[in-house]
Amino acid sequence: HLLSTHRRLHVLEGAESSNATAEKDGVDDLIMLLASIAVAVKSVGSAVRRRDITHGSGTESEPLERLANETWIDCLLYSQRSCILVSEDLENPVVVESNMQGKFAVVFDPLTGRSYPPCQEMGAIFGVFRQMSGGSPVIEDVMQPGRQMVAAGYALYGACTVLFLSLGSGVHGFTLDPALNEFILTHENVRIPYCGHIYSINEGYCSLWKPEIRELISRFKTEVSLNGKERSLRYVGSMVADVHRTLLYGGIFMYFAHQQWPNGKLKLLYEASPLAFIIEQAGGKASTGLERILDITPESVHDRIQVVIGSYEDVELVEQLFKGP
Ligand code: AHG
Repeated sequence: HLLSTHRRLHVLEGAESSNATAEKDGVDDLIMLLASIAVAVKSVGSAVRRRDITHGSGTESEPLERLANETWIDCLLYSQRSCILVSEDLENPVVVESNMQGKFAVVFDPLTGRSYPPCQEMGAIFGVFRQMSGGSPVIEDVMQPGRQMVAAGYALYGACTVLFLSLGSGVHGFTLDPALNEFILTHENVRIPYCGHIYSINEGYCSLWKPEIRELISRFKTEVSLNGKERSLRYVGSMVADVHRTLLYGGIFMYFAHQQWPNGKLKLLYEASPLAFIIEQAGGKASTGLERILDITPESVHDRIQVVIGSYEDVELVEQLFKGP
């Protein structure tokens, strides 16, 4: 139900002509997998809204976290299209039993932006790799650089539930119609503005940054943006919401390493890489400041990195400042 018939064909055409899905074999399996992800998103989105009603301003998100994780795992297992799963909420990958196995390795954060419920937009992030090994699934099937993903996306449980995804040939956004309980294609072939005036960063860490980061951010505060507008600061504190705004309105989102998070806070495999895939597919750029995020091979499933992501020119500017003259 993810895509109505003609919309489905449109996105499939993109998938079939893209490099990332050059192996046309299995596109239908990939669509089935994405449909199961859409079911997980509907289900968790509904639980998030119910929780807001039953708990009012309560701050207990733990049961919701467990529910979200279990829902994603169940949906992926019963799709019979996945072989190994990495969740932010599980220390070790789940290897799918052989009678339920498919060809795809899936990495996901089932409930992101959970720190300040219900005041912060929550969502989910996912990436899909084709299984590398021929036989039983192995850890190497998920330890791939993000550029090898065959699909990636995110959901956001905001004013309405949205699901944005890419199969390697552009980005498409769907909005859940609550009357139909179906995702409707509302944002076709999204392109991120080439530069923007919004910058997004937690400036509360200023005293913990290295001096060169402080210097870099002071330029954002004092200089006009590359499109000549005064810059504006926007920070939700939920990466998926901050990146969603960046995708639609342009600008840059940054999370640098600091004393508390010496490698950066955000997780490479199921936060940074899928969102980097989306932003690049929309014409933007995603970097650590020094290298392309999608070229990094994880060393462990919960690796953290620093993230500089958004409009092409804005990210390029930060890379230049980082690398120096
Ligand atoms: P969580 O899912 O635990 O709420 O983490 C949120 C992540 C990410 O989504 C967000 O950009 C970042 O942490 C915010 O961290 P700070 O509070 O340090 O700014």
